[in-house]
This record gives sequence, structure tokens and C-alpha cells, in this order.
Amino acid sequence: MFEPKLDQNQSNADLIAAGERAEEIRRLSKDWHSWTLTNSQMCDLEMLLNRAFAPLEGFLSRNDYESVLKAYRLANGHLWPIPITLDVTEELAGAVKEGETIALRNAEGVMLAALTVQSIWKPDKSAEANTLYNTEDTSHPGVAKLFSSNPFYIGGTVEGAQLPPHYDFISLRLTPEQTRAEFARLGWRKVISFQVRNVIHKTRYDFSLRAAKNLGANLFIHPVVGADDPWDNDHYTRIRCYQEAMKYYPQPTVRMGLLPLAVRYAGTREAIWRGLIAKNYGCTHFFIDHDLATEDHDYLGGAFSEPKIDPEILGKAQEEMGIQMVPYQPLVYVEDYDAYIPEDKVPDNVRVLRLTGRELRERLADGRLIPEWFTFKEVTAQLRMAHPPRHQQGFTVFFTGLSGAGKSTIANVVLVKLLQMGDRPVTLLDGDIVRRHLSSELNFSREHRDINIRRIGFVASEITKNGGIAICAPIAPYNQVREEVRRMVEKGGGFILVHVATPLETCEERDRKGLYAKARAGLIKGFTGISDPYELPENADLVIDTTNLSPYEAAQEVILHLEQKGYIGANRNPG
Ligand code: PPS
Repeated sequence: MFEPKLDQNQSNADLIAAGERAEEIRRLSKDWHSWTLTNSQMCDLEMLLNRAFAPLEGFLSRNDYESVLKAYRLANGHLWPIPITLDVTEELAGAVKEGETIALRNAEGVMLAALTVQSIWKPDKSAEANTLYNTEDTSHPGVAKLFSSNPFYIGGTVEGAQLPPHYDFISLRLTPEQTRAEFARLGWRKVISFQVRNVIHKTRYDFSLRAAKNLGANLFIHPVVGADDPWDNDHYTRIRCYQEAMKYYPQPTVRMGLLPLAVRYAGTREAIWRGLIAKNYGCTHFFIDHDLATEDHDYLGGAFSEPKIDPEILGKAQEEMGIQMVPYQPLVYVEDYDAYIPEDKVPDNVRVLRLTGRELRERLADGRLIPEWFTFKEVTAQLRMAHPPRHQQGFTVFFTGLSGAGKSTIANVVLVKLLQMGDRPVTLLDGDIVRRHLSSELNFSREHRDINIRRIGFVASEITKNGGIAICAPIAPYNQVREEVRRMVEKGGGFILVHVATPLETCEERDRKGLYAKARAGLIKGFTGISDPYELPENADLVIDTTNLSPYEAAQEVILHLEQKGYIGANRNPG
């Protein structure tokens, strides 16, 4: 349970080795065990090294971890609510000893820091999930991340060779020290931190500016640009949107810097943690964006709500934190007043307008108008670039079905029809073509078939992401990998699974390549439909039986489906 405690002192010097020492640890590290950091571990390391996580001096040791979970503080009594742990494989945990130094590297092998191991243990992740999130339900993103992390933790102090490198938005990547220096340079003594993870539309803009004005404070917009988060927009898009919104804030009292934080979604603990981080960046007040549980709830499947912030615990913690939280107050747009006002102050009989995250996505997908009361037109332009309407998006048509079902024939007609439209590049990844050029070393075992389909999925997802059309026509007999491919492709555009459901008897009767006869005679082993399984698709978007359809008729079914879903045809110009 949480009990407050005052007077905590700490040093804020960064943890990067000075001068030749950095070179020395780089050189010595060649003989050490190495760990390649995940994206989220890289965020944690950056926040440790630049002291955004002060007073931590490394990844938590077992004592500290247990104390943090139990009492919101380190074993030495310092307030710290979130376990910052380094999860590693059983292999590494078994290979290293306490007292040993290991090298922490990024995916390119660059040595970023030395970690002196204090403890190695296997955590009880269920207990951790229940303590942090009150649930083990993996539809909560924090729980999902925890349960998919490596099984062992290694704790120990870190000594940096360098900060993790960034090549994007460099002028916005301010460390806590640089931020504090900037505030001092500007003469800012009272600063409110706005850690935001959603795009700043007019409601957030109005709220943040109003809160800063009411408080007589300057505003530090601090977008979270951490790792692997299930959000609507990649960080490039979000930052471009913030840069557009920044133009509407008063220049002398508002600044922006990026926060390389891997969020935990842990309610009260998260709020205290964010406050401590804001304080380390030199802010005196903070509010955090609460919208994950409301506006974007539907995006994450609607299955969880963020653990609520407990005002009592937060109130107690604040005295000790040395920074004040300003409660986030949802504002709504009242058309009659052309103004945003707090939701609980809206009088009766006025017209309130709302646009949820889901509606915004749908409007973008259909190319419909995004009203100016909702957001800045420059922000809309950025969002339209990132989310073109469906008829300008890339997509993949993935045919699956038995050998001889007619997949290639239909795929070829669809190819020609799409080429004839000419608005997007089209690539055909037919089973035979792929087997020749991409997968020539593979056989027809389940393992190799899955590898084959994953390769097709990878290429299709790249084509789709870049706005092209991929037509795939392998047998793809297994559900699991088909769905894996769907998930891969849908990250960057549309995915349409077409089951060419021509019955086995018809395929066998046609036997164009004479393969069925050979399979029946035992000359081909593991032949799909004869001596190898074909799992019927559970989630086909379209099912076509070619027994009584010509290839043209079958292809037309596909084209009609694409039109129905908005991928072809429409040509609205919303401006
Ligand atoms: S898979 O299962 O998706 O990886 O198969 P795919 O890459 O589409 O390759 C199927 C074509 O390979 C020929 N072939 C076989 N098919 C099924 N089972 C076995 N054992 C087999 N051996 C060779 C066959 O000609 C398939 O082509 P299509 O065009 O489907 O008839």
C-alpha cells in the first residue's frame, strides 16, 4: 500500500560515461555477454541514461522490483511506482552471473551501455499483472506486453557508452537536462507538462491552453514517442500533426519536446510515474492524456479500460513528488456558442457536437469531410496523407483453394481488370511464380508451406503498405498462417481473403496438370486434398465455387466485392 514520505534528494547527472571511459567500455564489451534490446527496452534505457527515470540508476534489482510492486517505492524508500525491468531469455539468464558486466546493444549491434548484474530471477508475471493492472486479461495492452516479454529479469546498474541514436526530428529530442536548460533560458519558472499520445485536435488544444492560462503557467507539450504501441498513427504522422497544431499555440509560452517513453497503461501508478518524469524534465505541473480509455477505446477492441486513477493515492503522492497534477477535464464542442466547454457545464437545450476516434477513422477511410470545429485543417491534411481513402489505399487480394480450383485463372483476370483501371501498381504473386522465384528451396511439408505463405505475406504487405495492389494465389492450406498474413497486410491497407471453394471432385476431374492422378497413385506424397489437409477458411471475405462459373464471372465477383468495400471505383474529392 502507498504511504507518503517527504524530503527525497537525488542527483540528476546523466549516466553516460565521460571521455575515454566510453571508448573503454566499448572495447571491453567485445568479451562480454551481449543483449540485443527490444524497442521498448531501448526506450527504458534512454530514459535511464538521460535521467528522465532518476533516481533509478539501472534496471531494477529483485529487491527493488518487489518493493516497487508492494509499496510504490524502491528498497531505499524512494518513490517509484513502475517496475523498470530488463526481460531476457532463459539462455542469457542461465549464462550470466551476479557481478558480471553485460553489453546492451541495439538491433544493429551498437554497444549502448554496460550493465553490471545485481540479480537474475524469474518473475511471477501473473502477480505483476494483477498488481499493476488488476487483471490478467491480455486485451489490456500492458498485460499483453508483459505476458509476451521474456521470462527472466536481470537487474543492475547501467553505464552508458552513448544514448540510443535517433535520426528523426532531432531538434525536438531534448534530454531532461537540455529541457531544463531551455526553460531557464526562456525564463520559465512555472511549466505545465502535457504528455500526449493522441493527435492534438481542438478539444485537447483548448483544454491545454485554458489549463495553462488558468494556472499562469507556460506549456511544455511532451508527445510520447515510445515503442510498438497499438495507436492509430505512427509517430511520424503524430509529430507532423503536433507541429501543425503548435502553430496555433502562443509562441512565447509554449514549447515541444519528444518523450521516448514506453508507456505501461497502469492507472494511478502511471500517473505518479509520469509526474516524476515531468518533474525530472523541469516541469512544476502536469496533466496526462486520458483518452486511451475513451476516444480510442474502440480501436483497441473495447475489451479493457485503463486502471482508473485513484485520486486519494495520487493526492498523497503529490506532496512527495514535488509536482502538481492538474486534472484532465474533457471538453465538448457546443455549436450554438462555437466554443469548447467542460462536459459537466453544458446547459440543456444546446447542440453539442462530437466525433469519436472511430468516426474519424471511418471518415478518413471514405474520404468524407472532417469538420473544422473538430480539428485544424493542416492536421486534417496530415491525417489524410497517412490514411488515404480506401480507393487510394493499397490492398491484397489473397486467393486460397485446392490445386486446380481456378485460383490462378481468376487471379489473372482480376490482374488484367485492375491493370486496366491503371490507378495503382499491381503485382501478381501466383503460387507457381513464388515457388520458382522466392521459395525454390522449399518442399510441401507443413513447415515449408507456412514459410512459403509468410514470404508471400511479407511481400504483399510491403506492396500494400506502399499503396500498391498485390494479388496472391497459393493453396495456403492452413488457417493460422492465413490469418497471420491478414494481420501483417492490414497494418498497411486492405486484405481480402477469397476462398476459391471448387470441390475436390471437380478439381480432380479437371486434373489439368495430372497431379491428382499421380497423388492417387502415390507418386506424389502429401498432396493437398488427397494426402494432406486443406483447412476451410473461417474468415473468408468472399467464397467462390467455380464449378458453374466462367473465370470472367468469378473475377467479376471479386471486382464487385472490391467496389462494395470502397477499394475501387469511388472518386470523391473532399478537398
Ligand atoms: S502452398 O501449400 O500454398 O505452399 O502451395 P503452393 O505454393 O501454392 O504450391 C502449390 C502448387 O505446387 C504443386 N504441387 C503441390 N501442391 C500441393 N501439394 C503438393 N504436395 C504439391 N506438390 C506440387 C501444384 O502444382 C500446386 O499448383 P496449383 O497451381 O495450385 O495447382
